[in-house]
Amino acid sequence: MTTRQTTKTQVRLFPAPAPLATVTDLTAQEAQAVTEAVNPLIADAFALYVKTKNFHWHLSGSHFRDYHLLFDEQADAIFESIDIMAERVRRVGGTTIRSISHINQLQTIGDDNNDFVPPGEMVKRLMEDNAHIAQNIRAAIEVCDRNRDSATSNALQGILDETERRKWFLFEVMQGISNTN
Ligand SMILES: [Fe+2]
Repeated sequence: MTTRQTTKTQVRLFPAPAPLATVTDLTAQEAQAVTEAVNPLIADAFALYVKTKNFHWHLSGSHFRDYHLLFDEQADAIFESIDIMAERVRRVGGTTIRSISHINQLQTIGDDNNDFVPPGEMVKRLMEDNAHIAQNIRAAIEVCDRNRDSATSNALQGILDETERRKWFLFEVMQGISNTN
């Protein structure tokens, strides 16, 4: 019988165990740099996905329909980005997210467990998280470029564009909130 590892174990991302060490022409240092730059982005995407769904589920107020649908559309796009990033890491021979506790070790945005968040505050928090994540993606793109991984850089450029689209929508929704309240 195998013993289940405790959730406190620090998960190692690199080097991968031999059967998972995908052959690549990147050096080990290059592959490691990419792996360590991209995995926190995946953790943040999971955290933001859950937060966006949390707000989709716990919304109240006169803008219910608009925000409920906007948050769902944004959650779908965030979720799609996760597999793209995780499989880029695997293509260069790194390992990726293992569990919820692993996400918690790597995420850089905070969770949101409040009983109630007013709708305008939800929009503001998501806007700030997307802005923070956009900044991190831009930094990770530089790491990929410096380490000859243009395919991951290219994938991240598309994900950055989607993140900035969300930020733009949320920012403009915030303008409506401050003008009408
Ligand atoms: Fe739903």
